[in-house]
Amino acid sequence: QLCDIGFIGLGVMGKNLTLNLADNGYRIACFDLDQTKVDGILAQDAAERGDKAARIVGCRSYTELLSRLKAPHLIIVSVPAGEPVDHVCNHLIDAGIGADDIVVDTGNSLWTDSVAREQHFKGKFIFFSTAVSGGEVGARFGPSLMPSGDPYAWTRIKPVWEAIAAKVDPATGKPLPAKGPGQPVTEGEPCATYIGPVGAGHYVKMVHNGIEYADMQLICEAYQVMRQGLGMAPQDIAATFRTWNQGVLNSYLIEISAEVLEKQDDETGEPLVDMIMDKAGQKGTGLWTAVSALQVGSPAQTIAQAVFARSISSLKKERVHAATMLKGPEPVELSSDEKQQAVNNLQDALYCSKICAYAQGFQLMDMASKEHGWKLDFAEIAKIWRAGCIIRAVFLQSITQAYASNDELANLLLDPFFASQIQAFQRNWRQAVADATLMGIPCAAMSSALNYYDSYRSETLPANLLQGQRDYFGAHTYERVDQPEGRKFHIEWSQPGQPQVQIKK
Ligand code: 6PG
Repeated sequence: QLCDIGFIGLGVMGKNLTLNLADNGYRIACFDLDQTKVDGILAQDAAERGDKAARIVGCRSYTELLSRLKAPHLIIVSVPAGEPVDHVCNHLIDAGIGADDIVVDTGNSLWTDSVAREQHFKGKFIFFSTAVSGGEVGARFGPSLMPSGDPYAWTRIKPVWEAIAAKVDPATGKPLPAKGPGQPVTEGEPCATYIGPVGAGHYVKMVHNGIEYADMQLICEAYQVMRQGLGMAPQDIAATFRTWNQGVLNSYLIEISAEVLEKQDDETGEPLVDMIMDKAGQKGTGLWTAVSALQVGSPAQTIAQAVFARSISSLKKERVHAATMLKGPEPVELSSDEKQQAVNNLQDALYCSKICAYAQGFQLMDMASKEHGWKLDFAEIAKIWRAGCIIRAVFLQSITQAYASNDELANLLLDPFFASQIQAFQRNWRQAVADATLMGIPCAAMSSALNYYDSYRSETLPANLLQGQRDYFGAHTYERVDQPEGRKFHIEWSQPGQPQVQIKK
């Protein structure tokens, strides 16, 4: 019997996506350069489903993979981003893939690479991309999927992605829990929606990761203030996060942060978090988001600060040395009531900062969408982030509602609900940033979010002086507040008495 789908790349994500596809009734022919991975998934499929019902077939070459598939072929690829994707595509061409066949890249590819690949492989096969979020558990039991590319390819992949995606209860907007191997969740709204032309899906996933970086960093800053500033034990911080998780901050990232903080180290019996080296890694998607924000000219400072926070964390040796030389303020003694208030302030600061980080991410997608003509649907994007992905949170339901009620919304901060939320909580947010600053504890993401809010709501910014400076040393010209937009003026600053002149186009 021929298989429905070919799957190439059986790393953690690929293996689990394949098992998820099999759970949903698809027969899969799979291949990996490492045959032990092929053997491993066959053993797992047989163990979970029993030999008779096994739905996965192992292949020893690209040619065998193609020969095992129904035509036109649908092949999903899960290999590291970059050169390995091209390597697989070129091997598929050598193995005889046809012009009607579809190859779907599911890695964390750079979106411009996806655009280039669609062009490059045109006529050889249809290159389609789908960004996947949710880590290994998501891949196994329901990820969030951001597909983009050829609309014909989408009609073929749509039922497949909708089947394996995470599902949301439409009544509550909350994720429907996974049921376990062999028991796919078939009810609810799937977290898979067509994002747009090729590249758009990976761009949206890139921004998802930028928001993920910001969200994680914000939680880490709240943790550091509680740990160092308020002297709380990891267990107590975990308990605080669990309480926060009951309210507006309810999210996967808060939940796992509590779990990490509760974990004891087997070796020492100490909290494991105290034993983990404070040097953050990164694979690039947060950096790509920050770079794109700079290129597009979209303010995304909280996301950028989260990337820089990882960079400064990795300068561990230098920090250890600097700590012996550079002094901060004297420690502040707080009463238990003051500590409790400081914790409450942090909760509100985290919420307001999180709203700003998401506002930045959506604003960036909006500007990129306009630049590339993608026509991104932000209500749909928020919808598919409600379950399956790493930034899934109750909060995404409110974002869905904000864009569903106004698809022209220029910024999340202008949505009446979010505007009123920040209005209600900003006093504590300001206090939390002030407290951390006075204690000498870094809160780059939290304070940058506050600065974003204050800049965005400022009718007047000091860019008037800045334009004066630019005109002074470089004749860069300025516009006037009392003249129509676009009219440029200049003064010969070094020759006092010279009149202002209007620059002709
Ligand atoms: C997801 C994650 C996933 C991943 C990234 C980020 O949505 O499932 O974002 O893509 O964890 O690789 O990793 P870094 O933190 O290493 O950049």
